[in-house]
Amino acid sequence: MLNGKQIVLIISGGIAAYKSLDLIRRLKERGARVIPVMTAGAQEFITPLAVGALSAEKVFTSLFDREAEHDVGHIRLARDHDLVLIAPATANLMAKTAHGIADDLATAVLLATDKPVLVAPAMNPKMWHNAATTRNITILQERGIRFVGPARGEMAEKGEAGVGRMSDPLEIVAAASAVLRDEEIRQNRLPLAGKHVLITSGPTHEPIDPVRYIANRSSGKQGHALAVAAYEAGARVTLVSGPVDLADPDNIDTIRVESAADMLSAVKSCLPADIAIMAAAVADWRVAAEGAQKIKKDGSGKPPALGLVENPDILATVGHHESLRPKLLIGFAAETQNLIDNARSKLERKNADWIIANDVSPETGIMGGDANTVRLVSRDGVEDWPEMNKAEVARQIVARAAAALDE
Ligand code: CTP
Repeated sequence: MLNGKQIVLIISGGIAAYKSLDLIRRLKERGARVIPVMTAGAQEFITPLAVGALSAEKVFTSLFDREAEHDVGHIRLARDHDLVLIAPATANLMAKTAHGIADDLATAVLLATDKPVLVAPAMNPKMWHNAATTRNITILQERGIRFVGPARGEMAEKGEAGVGRMSDPLEIVAAASAVLRDEEIRQNRLPLAGKHVLITSGPTHEPIDPVRYIANRSSGKQGHALAVAAYEAGARVTLVSGPVDLADPDNIDTIRVESAADMLSAVKSCLPADIAIMAAAVADWRVAAEGAQKIKKDGSGKPPALGLVENPDILATVGHHESLRPKLLIGFAAETQNLIDNARSKLERKNADWIIANDVSPETGIMGGDANTVRLVSRDGVEDWPEMNKAEVARQIVARAAAALDE
């Protein structure tokens, strides 16, 4: 959501300003351009030099900057961007903004902007709870300005704790994504707005006893990338994930499960959906009788007999659902041989619309790696896609799915 976006970052004067340096890095890592504006107070805590070095941009500090004002710089600053983010926002800056005071560059930008504004307040808990601040927050919210935090915790002042800490940079990044996405939805620019997309991801773990399980090498990278791509296309996304090392994606409703049976019941509880993409590498079998206690060696030298039973097929269950089959149902086929034949037979057997087939032989490096080479198998034929990273594969699948839903 942040890739290619331009964000005016207003830094006001609070000790939390040091966290803004990390915030700049996080926003830039995600492809955003960050144009910093610092109040006089902010410059007491961190230097324009540090902010300029991290943002790699000119740092705006003054309303009457001869270089910037030859083309009415503060108005342009407030117009040419996608989002104005205030982090940290002091009680004073919020008060001035609520009452339309524009006595420095930051407040002038806030008065002139017609873009979404996100505020990350940071102040002493007494100031946060003061009736004047509460009133100002209401005024700002009524104007559509959004807030992230503040969080509860220790204050910089010794022995003081309460609500007033600026949210962590990653939470601010997630909130900024949500605000930018809402704006794009409002402008009708996202193809999956109003749609529900259900995605499964990762492996499943099938317990043998309380300490052991059967698993596979799925990392969840492709499934999680699909969830992010569907979110960025405007959908409400539910991600049902097996055990993975990945963080739950920002702003996405993520249900973590262990076994295939858990995954099936989570998926059923999330229907209806307009699109379902089953990217999980579901274990085909589970142990018939899971040991209630840790299985011990019995001294005979013989291994225990682990009887296996077949797991329910989640994709097939959804594909054959009488009333709640999604309009578009997409499965994956991870194969090491006969890729297309196997994909075609899965398409039919599971009543899917598309199968995204990939060769996961160890030499391809696809399992656990960042790149993927897939083929889209449908009843219309087979398309070979070039190698792409998993995020790009996800965006392409989602774009195709959005177009197919419209047909
Ligand atoms: N799948 C599923 N539930 C299962 C097994 C598979 O939902 N119990 C889904 C996967 O998420 C994937 C598709 O079915 O979208 C194909 O998975 P794959 O493991 O390739 O196929 P299987 O049906 O398990 O067949 P096989 O292991 O024999 O290749």
